[in-house]
Amino acid sequence: MDTKEAAPFETASFYIPFYIPPPSFSQLLIYHKSHFQLKKLLYIHTLNYLAINMDVQAVKQRFEIIGNSPKLNRAIEIATQVAATDMSVLITGESGTGKEVFPKIIHQFSARKHGQYIAVNCGAIPEGTIDSELFGHEKGSFTGAHEKRKGYFEVADGGTIFLDEVAELPLSTQVRLLRILETGEFLKVGSSTVLKTNVRVVAATNVNLIEAIQSGRFREDLYYRLNTVPITIPPLRDRKEDILLLFRKFSADFAEKYRMPAVKLTDPAKEVLLSYRWDGNIRQLKNITEQVSVLEGDRVIEGDTLKNYLPNFNLEKLPAIYNKGVDEKTFSSEREILYKVLFDMKKDMTELKKIVSNIIQSGTDSKTNEINTRILKNMYPEHDTDEPIDQPEPISFSINKEDNHVIQDTEEIIEESLSLEDKEKELIKKALEKHGGRRKQAAIELGISERTLYRKIKEYDLNE
Ligand SMILES: Nc1ncnc2c1ncn2[C@@H]1O[C@H](COP(=O)(O)OP(=O)(O)OP(=O)(O)O)[C@@H](O)[C@H]1O
Ligand SMILES: [Mg+2]
Repeated sequence: MDTKEAAPFETASFYIPFYIPPPSFSQLLIYHKSHFQLKKLLYIHTLNYLAINMDVQAVKQRFEIIGNSPKLNRAIEIATQVAATDMSVLITGESGTGKEVFPKIIHQFSARKHGQYIAVNCGAIPEGTIDSELFGHEKGSFTGAHEKRKGYFEVADGGTIFLDEVAELPLSTQVRLLRILETGEFLKVGSSTVLKTNVRVVAATNVNLIEAIQSGRFREDLYYRLNTVPITIPPLRDRKEDILLLFRKFSADFAEKYRMPAVKLTDPAKEVLLSYRWDGNIRQLKNITEQVSVLEGDRVIEGDTLKNYLPNFNLEKLPAIYNKGVDEKTFSSEREILYKVLFDMKKDMTELKKIVSNIIQSGTDSKTNEINTRILKNMYPEHDTDEPIDQPEPISFSINKEDNHVIQDTEEIIEESLSLEDKEKELIKKALEKHGGRRKQAAIELGISERTLYRKIKEYDLNE
């Protein structure tokens, strides 16, 4: 053998310690097939991705959902994917994160969309009537049950029921609900006849249900039954990329509503908005955008101006004490009432300043005028009060000649109560009056849940 020719083989076998035979025809075919399959898989995957993404965008448009954070998109994606099944869905998230639109999405994307969709606020229905509302009752089953009545579960047969604030359900109702979820069976109040229904249940809560289970307020078996598919709506502070989008949308909406140009933020104001904690989430952002839109004359909002509207802004940098307990919602709702009360008081103060300023400007002698000018300067430092105050016509006083006292005002001055409780009562009364006693609307206007409103009405004995 020619050694020169043999060398390359030897060298090759030295460098490549194993022999790779050329692929056989069948292997080539498999390779070609798997390559094709891989390409096909990639193609399908890309199509799926585009379809889901397009779906998510279309859902957002249809249901007027603003935001593009991955966590929000994921929640919408799960809702559309699970819609076609009959699985129970539990939507959780802090107060004001936007849970209420999700059951609608699930219903509309399901085969049940032509059936009934009933949203029940479990927190707003008194404990004594909730079973009857949900499951119906027989005539004479309790005082006042003059007729037999169908419950929501019977009416929504073939459709979807949204149980909002599900953690508020009394334990006895939780038992009935568990049975209906497991077998579709239920009993009307006062009846022993088992009825059947076919309802898809979507529930929502801002309460930590695990804690509620631990403290015995929520049944564990019901939790697992409801939580077949969990959807978590992220708090606003975890989707900062959506904050400015939402502000822009809300300011445009309020501009249209109040027929004024939309408010805009300076860069420092944007920073303020982004660094805030937003414990009340999108509901709070919406309320604050409305307040700024209405109360600020200047349409360009500076950072410092914005801070005035954000409660505890300066505490933001401190570690937050965040109690995720059951009272969180009540607390935040009550806090919202307090914000409103404070704003109301601020408005009153402005009015008061105007009145005082008018009275002061009516002063006659130059000494009084000088004092008044000083007071005005203190009250309105931004206003140039060096200009002489116009001398108004002297106002007429009625003088009691006997004791020489100047009676400046014959009206009885009733001192306004500044108690927060009184203010709260007053606001609740006003809201109820405005909405003709409809609690749902009144609660929306007050920015609190119907349940809190219901409790306050009881507490202050405001029942008509
Ligand atoms: N992505 C969003 N785009 C536009 N508006 C939103 C969005 N999310 C929520 N909102 C608005 O924020 C407000 C609060 O939303 P929603 O009532 O759904 O809160 P929630 O999660 O049910 O709160 P709670 O637990 O207190 O009942 C509503 O006015 C809603 O329209
Ligand atoms: Mg809600």
